[in-house]
Amino acid sequence: VVVRDLRGCFLLPGFVDTHVHYPQTAVTDAYGGGQLMEWLEHCIFPAEAELADPGYAEAIAAAFVARRVACGTTAAMVFGSAFPVAQRALYEAHEAAGLRVVSGRGIQTVGPDSAAPLITTEAEALALVREEIDTWHDPAGLRQVAIVPRFSLSVTRQTLAALGELYAEVADGGVYVHSHLNENNRAGDGEIATVKAMYEVDSYLDTYDGRFLPGSRVGGAGLLGRRTIMAHAVHCTDAELDRMAATGTSIAHCPTSQLFLGSGTMPWRRTVAAGVNVALGTDVGAGDEWLLSRVANDCYKVHLSAPGDDAVAVHPAELLFAATLAGARALDQEDRFGNLDAGKEADFLVIDPAAYAPLALTLEQASTPDQQLFALLMGLREPAIREVYVAGRRVGPGQAASEA
Ligand code: GUN
Ligand code: ZN
Repeated sequence: VVVRDLRGCFLLPGFVDTHVHYPQTAVTDAYGGGQLMEWLEHCIFPAEAELADPGYAEAIAAAFVARRVACGTTAAMVFGSAFPVAQRALYEAHEAAGLRVVSGRGIQTVGPDSAAPLITTEAEALALVREEIDTWHDPAGLRQVAIVPRFSLSVTRQTLAALGELYAEVADGGVYVHSHLNENNRAGDGEIATVKAMYEVDSYLDTYDGRFLPGSRVGGAGLLGRRTIMAHAVHCTDAELDRMAATGTSIAHCPTSQLFLGSGTMPWRRTVAAGVNVALGTDVGAGDEWLLSRVANDCYKVHLSAPGDDAVAVHPAELLFAATLAGARALDQEDRFGNLDAGKEADFLVIDPAAYAPLALTLEQASTPDQQLFALLMGLREPAIREVYVAGRRVGPGQAASEA
């Protein structure tokens, strides 16, 4: 092997983004004039409809992969496009770039007028998910497929029942589930209130847990498990957190997105104490940062600013964990990547503080390892990400992909 002297640099595990929307690549910082429901209807559904155009989808897939490489996001759970042609572009761009990806087309069988281009019949939705699994799912490789109902308001009881049956059939093959949970708690017409009214359930999580009949009665197989990631989980009951912990379901925690959409702050202490795995997600495009350490930065600030006893200074090691190993755990691939343990597949970043002077300056003032890690995570910006490796292979930044 070639031994390289990288003194002055840091090695970090590659970042794992557990919630990022590929079809929203071009619409970060979109002004919807309100919170989640307004923003989806005015900005997001129309923008996602544009990916029906194969040429545009290819351009967006290329831009998406380029942002991932620049930000050192070596693995990700990618919320996909409704259009198979756009999913093809996504998978092919990832294959060419050498990045890990788990993705699935966003399933919508009901919705407002602006979502019409994204909606299919239930039969078509099921056929398309099966086809995506058959075509792209590669359990031992870098690319896997997820079943992705957009959220409970984009599907029906019948769709959830059918997806539960499908999941029971394909779960052993390592297929994933991804969706949104408990994001917006505006009284009356917010997301959570609408889910509870529409399904007549006690809790939002029940709809994903097979309990989607009135009174939270069981209506079919559930979608929770070790390969299930629920994004947001800002406003969970204790029972919902306990159920996620018991089933091994992970939370994609997206504080940058919560700030952007006014969704509130996930109670860090209570959520972590419940024993549920909490990993970070950018939630691009409601999150307007691609760099996962910037999400860790917001994570630190929002939880320190939480009211009363909820306020907590998240330790730098926990921030690093949430941005890396917790994500690998959420993807149920902790044995393959997530830290620098011997025997893993070597997903890592070379950080060069000299390439970004403000970072070099603050690191000089950090005297303990904890302070150093904190300054590194809080102050990291893209110019300092010098090299990115996935499974021991250099994937960028820059053009030359070469063996390490
Ligand atoms: N809930 C349903 N769809 C979305 C989405 O695209 N982004 C976010 N943040 N929440 C959602
Ligand atoms: Zn999202």
